[in-house]
Amino acid sequence: MPMHALAALALVIASPVLAACDPLQYVDPLIGSTNSGNVFPGASRPYGMAKAVADVDGQNTGGFATDGSNVTGFSAMHDSGTGGNPSLGNFPLFPQLCPGDELNACNFRIGDRKVGYRNDSVVARPGHFKVGLQNGIAAELTVADHTAVMRFEFPLGEGGDGTSQEHPLILLDLTDLWQSRQNATVAVDPETGRMKGNGTFLPSFGAGSYVLHYCVDFFGAKVFDSGVWVNSRAGNEPKELFVTRGFNLFYNEAGGFVRFQNLSDKSVTARVGVSFVSADQACRNAEIEVPDPIGSFSALVRSAEDAWREKLRPVSVAAGGADKSLLVSLYSGLYRAMMSPQNYTGENPYWDSGIPYFDSFYCIWDSFRVQHPLLTVIDPEAQSQMLASLLDIYKHEGWLPDCRMSLCKGWTQGGSNADVVLVDGFVKNFTTRIDWSLALEAIVNDAENEPLEWSYEGRGGLQSWKRLNYIPYLDYDPNGYGTNSRSISRTLEYAYDDFCLARLADGLGRKDLHAKYLARSANWQHLWRPDQKSLINGTDTGFTGFFQPKYLNGTWGYQDPIACSALADFCSLTTNPSETFEASIWQYQFIVPQSVSTLIDLLGGDEDFIRRLNFFHTSGLADISNEPVFLTVYLYHYAGRPALSTERIHTYVPASFNATNGGLPGNDDSGAMGSFLFFSMTGLFPVAGQNVYLISAPFFEEVRVKNPVTGKTATVRAKGFDPGYKNMYIQSATVDGQPWQKSWITHDLFTEGRTLELVLGDKESDWGTKLEDRPPSWTAGTRTV
Ligand SMILES: *[C@@H]1O[C@H](CO)[C@@H](O)[C@H](O)[C@H]1NC(C)=O
Ligand SMILES: *[C@@H]1O[C@H](CO)[C@@H](O)[C@H](O)[C@H]1NC(C)=O
Ligand SMILES: *[C@@H]1O[C@H](CO)[C@@H](O)[C@H](O)[C@H]1NC(C)=O
Ligand SMILES: *[C@@H]1O[C@H](CO)[C@@H](O)[C@H](O)[C@H]1NC(C)=O
Ligand SMILES: *[C@@H]1O[C@H](CO)[C@@H](O)[C@H](O)[C@H]1NC(C)=O
Ligand SMILES: *[C@@H]1O[C@H](CO)[C@@H](O)[C@H](O)[C@H]1NC(C)=O
Ligand SMILES: *[C@@H]1O[C@H](CO)[C@@H](O)[C@H](O)[C@H]1NC(C)=O
Ligand SMILES: *[C@@H]1O[C@H](CO)[C@@H](O)[C@H](O)[C@H]1NC(C)=O
Ligand SMILES: *[C@@H]1O[C@H](CO)[C@@H](O)[C@H](O)[C@H]1NC(C)=O
Ligand SMILES: *[C@@H]1O[C@H](CO)[C@@H](O)[C@H](O)[C@H]1NC(C)=O
Repeated sequence: MPMHALAALALVIASPVLAACDPLQYVDPLIGSTNSGNVFPGASRPYGMAKAVADVDGQNTGGFATDGSNVTGFSAMHDSGTGGNPSLGNFPLFPQLCPGDELNACNFRIGDRKVGYRNDSVVARPGHFKVGLQNGIAAELTVADHTAVMRFEFPLGEGGDGTSQEHPLILLDLTDLWQSRQNATVAVDPETGRMKGNGTFLPSFGAGSYVLHYCVDFFGAKVFDSGVWVNSRAGNEPKELFVTRGFNLFYNEAGGFVRFQNLSDKSVTARVGVSFVSADQACRNAEIEVPDPIGSFSALVRSAEDAWREKLRPVSVAAGGADKSLLVSLYSGLYRAMMSPQNYTGENPYWDSGIPYFDSFYCIWDSFRVQHPLLTVIDPEAQSQMLASLLDIYKHEGWLPDCRMSLCKGWTQGGSNADVVLVDGFVKNFTTRIDWSLALEAIVNDAENEPLEWSYEGRGGLQSWKRLNYIPYLDYDPNGYGTNSRSISRTLEYAYDDFCLARLADGLGRKDLHAKYLARSANWQHLWRPDQKSLINGTDTGFTGFFQPKYLNGTWGYQDPIACSALADFCSLTTNPSETFEASIWQYQFIVPQSVSTLIDLLGGDEDFIRRLNFFHTSGLADISNEPVFLTVYLYHYAGRPALSTERIHTYVPASFNATNGGLPGNDDSGAMGSFLFFSMTGLFPVAGQNVYLISAPFFEEVRVKNPVTGKTATVRAKGFDPGYKNMYIQSATVDGQPWQKSWITHDLFTEGRTLELVLGDKESDWGTKLEDRPPSWTAGTRTV
């Protein structure tokens, strides 16, 4: 560890109770690398564009997986934790020895060349990834911001320098993980072996196409020969190739190759520069960032480690005897939350406004709930750059994104959730460098103007939304195009988006807009059907009153309240599209964060509300693998039973979230699951879009978060903490020494560096139970409890 890092760490560990010294010891990038976590487990810097790892043919959405599948290549760009199609993985390199040193005895196509890896050879550390292939070749990867460095070591025979009959080959494949390439080019320099070119690909969850450029140089060996390959054959001439899809869309596998001689160290090091602007910029990025790939390999690793330490340093923990695996879950979750959005500043080919450009908001439907609130707490500088970037995208494209990847518009899943991300920043005092009047304009645009293509921007059905105050089942909408489903979940989300808009308008002194949108934020009530029942296999669950779809003419439609739950079929945009998105009516009935008190009244009061929540969480209806469930773990607070929220989270951690390779219940979604873990284990759960953190008992004796901007440290301390969690009930609380009755707290805990001290006991107490101590709810016009 370099001296400056040690010195900085000393500040954090000054207090004797805080056990953690080097936070990197608690980071395991392999958590979520199998069992559908889809986590990117390779080498990246925080928010880095270059993300290097071995790609497999199994669960390869994030490139590599510990699922025992075969390695197909090594590539420089990835997304982390996303669902659906595998993302990026463009221009993989693949090293091999050709039997008999015969060029055409080498395997070129993916199906021919794929090879297993040795399970015990996998090393995944922040900024560093190693794997040994079953053919004896070992790979070691690290990165700079836009450059991957890949060192391949070959099992060479006698002499071992490639002078005799062994000339290791490295091919470059003009493909991506999803095989979405439309057309692409490669040019090989026969003297240096440099390979340069570009490809046009499709975004993994969006519209249009993107062009990515690359520039690969080799070090540590001399060029023996070079050329191009097409399907299973290669030749030394020509040195350039253009591939396209042709009329019948046939997928030619093709690329360039170089064979090497005179290897020092039996290895060849590839430096892969990438750019969205040009191949020349890809070369320039690589030359500037990594002038000496062999000599600086370990310095690059150390630099990435330092960058990650810096990012994790705000959080320090006194475990109080809690299991080390919980610390690993916590810090690994924090680490994954800073993989994306990716910093593509200087790499946007469409505009350069001098404002940082972030990409891979993948998707905001996932990240608005806890990931962005987490960045607000631990990396406010990055979060404010991301807010500025969202507004800059609005300025140049006319719409805030709801999902965005590879410079393309991603599909909208529900509402216009960038609204919530922006307003969350506003209520938490991100006052500098954000143009809030522009934010108001952008959010009003979402609320008022229907785009022609609302499948990837804005909202659909706005004519009905304004006229009928709900999104109708089978809406008549001649104004725009999108998947005409999700009428219930879109009604709920639009209502919350409008609530956030009302808050912003209020804060900016626009009373007219405030009243208008606060009224619209109550629109969710129009889909409440008081006499609706819910049966499971013919047996009445005993609960009456659920949301239901409603036609344009006001007549009720029908969707089984358990449809789209874990007990029924999955519903997405394309699979089984329904009136709720990726979750059931049972799930969505709880998603009214603006007016939980009104919801509780509709459901029959506190006790009935709690009975419903309990049934939801214990019947198999709750889907802990997907983001809408997050807030429902903590909703007991609103019914005056914060103790039950703490009990509930302990049924999910560590049973569904733990420090194993398969330790995430579902897609990490750019760190959403990791962020959920952070807030849950810290005992502070954010209600996104509001200046509200719900207080529960933490999983550790003490957690401190140092605000990297103000330098002030927020502390959550649990007196009477026991690592067996018998004492999981808050008896009383103080903030900076003053009694604190409320079951929630505001963001100044972090900005002012306050100390929240909780006294724990083994029985539920009356702390936080009174009506006036519950978290805020709003009804049209006023705040109620
Ligand atoms: C490697 O790990 C995978 C996934 O856990 C497993 O299926 C496979 O059997 C393991 N291989 C060996 C040789 O242990
Ligand atoms: C890996 O590839 C080899 C060779 O093609 C094949 O025999 C093996 O079944 C593959 N393993 C997996 C897990 O797909
Ligand atoms: C490559 O494909 C894209 C999309 O299919 C097209 O717009 C572009 O013009 C093509 N480029 C070349 C050089 O053919
Ligand atoms: C891709 O590379 C080819 C060959 O250098 C070049 O002609 C073409 O313009 C490039 N395409 C893009 C989109 O830059
Ligand atoms: C490779 O090494 C051999 C023997 O060490 C030497 O004779 C030859 O000149 C070298 N080739 C190149 C291209 O440097
Ligand atoms: C993103 O990159 C730009 C350009 O290097 C830099 O100025 C900015 O600080 C970076 N943002 C973060 C959060 O690292
Ligand atoms: C419903 O009944 C079927 C058939 O008996 C059973 O397989 C299924 O698990 C039941 N579902 C629930 C949610 O109880
Ligand atoms: C309302 O529309 C639905 C769907 O078209 C139809 O089934 C229903 O009968 C209509 N109700 C009335 C009262 O017209
Ligand atoms: C760890 O989490 C995974 C994913 O939710 C779960 O399948 C597994 O059972 C958990 N393991 C333990 C030991 O709780
Ligand atoms: C935001 O700033 C204002 C004015 O400085 C202050 O009154 C308020 O308490 C701050 N809120 C938070 C959440 O820090």
